[in-house]
Amino acid sequence: MKRIALTVNGVKRTFGGDPDMPLLWYLRDELHLTGAKFGCGIGECGACTVLVNGAATRSCITAMKSMAGKKVVTIEGLSARGDHPLQKAWETCNVPQCGYCQSGQIMQAAELLGQKPKPTDQDIEEAMQGNICRCGTYQRIRQAVKLAAG
Ligand code: FES
Repeated sequence: MKRIALTVNGVKRTFGGDPDMPLLWYLRDELHLTGAKFGCGIGECGACTVLVNGAATRSCITAMKSMAGKKVVTIEGLSARGDHPLQKAWETCNVPQCGYCQSGQIMQAAELLGQKPKPTDQDIEEAMQGNICRCGTYQRIRQAVKLAAG
């Protein structure tokens, strides 16, 4: 079987399983990186968001066969000690309630700050609007993204 080489959080990996397996399954079940969560499974909620080559990506609908040569960053790889400016801002603003969607929220925000280090309110609104939070922490999420951007 053809093996797929990719990098996850800076570590080179090869995958030899079902090419149609979603990236989220691979991350959670094989690499035990459980920060990205299963919410809807159809690309609608954002709980499973990770970065693929710097782009926020719904890992629940991203098949492993599309991952050859790609660089994946999950919440576990965002910083060495959980001290990325977004993670610190999340703590300062006490963002999470149940927490389930929050790693996806942070990874979505990481894409935004990667592209626009000083986003406007509208940039933040547009970037974050596809990430759903059932606890309604949206206001604190917006606050934290602004704080992280400085
Ligand atoms: Fe992937 Fe909802 S679980 S977008």
